Amino acid sequence: MDIILLGPPGAGKGTQAQRLVDRRGMVQLSTGDMLRETRKADSELGRQVAAVMDSGALVSDEIVSAMIDAKLETLPVGTGVIFDGYPRTAAQAHSLDTILAGRNRTLAHVIELDVNEDALVERIVGRYTCAACGKGYHDTFEQPLVAGTCDKCGGHEFKRRPDDNEQTVRTRMAEYRAKTAPILPIYGARGIVAQVDGMADIDAVTGAIETVLFN
Ligand code: AP5
Ligand code: MG
Repeated sequence: MDIILLGPPGAGKGTQAQRLVDRRGMVQLSTGDMLRETRKADSELGRQVAAVMDSGALVSDEIVSAMIDAKLETLPVGTGVIFDGYPRTAAQAHSLDTILAGRNRTLAHVIELDVNEDALVERIVGRYTCAACGKGYHDTFEQPLVAGTCDKCGGHEFKRRPDDNEQTVRTRMAEYRAKTAPILPIYGARGIVAQVDGMADIDAVTGAIETVLFN
């Protein structure tokens, strides 16, 4: 089963994708994570991607769609994929249709995380991840069980994203409203969109998503 998690920055796409990976054996394909790998490279592409991400604008449709296609190529048939942060424009949505059709895959659900934008800046500014395994945390909403130690891998180093500052977040939200929210009707017309309350607590959101996917 392939699904899209759709929602603005801080809606909980990555948090919920991680849970579906852990609990249901699905695979998370996050274009944000892929681009964060790309920007580490000491190359012209790495520098260009870093500059775009730090501004809060979107990276080109061709680059992200090519990344998704290349990742799908490596997955065994029958692996359920969670698209996290992709597609984000109408052009990407059309590319995804072509990519999936070429691989005999079908999109089962688009989960729209319905959130109140005012709360998202607080979520994003408080976010951090384990430097070793990538598990996500929040200063207030999701702390490790033992302070300073990752629940998942026992690591002690944590990091924050360079684009997680209030100014960049505002641009990311504007990009979401202008370019990403307008793709919802494409999937609405196919009858595959389910709205989930993304303002509920993290476990309740997971439960609501699992109800859509598995009941
Ligand atoms: P990307 O990495 O995709 O960032 P984003 O869309 O801005 O979304 P976030 O990762 O910030 O939020 P999230 O929904 O995953 O929230 P999370 O679960 O972490 O993209 C970054 C950049 O890369 C873009 O700006 C663009 O430049 C580029 N890019 C990426 N994909 C692209 C594409 N397809 N095309 C073009 N450019 C692209 O949660 C946030 C925090 O809140 C966490 O700390 C979490 O613990 C907490 N939290 C989560 N859920 C809850 C809850 N229910 N209650 C309380 N706290 C919660
Ligand atoms: Mg994310």
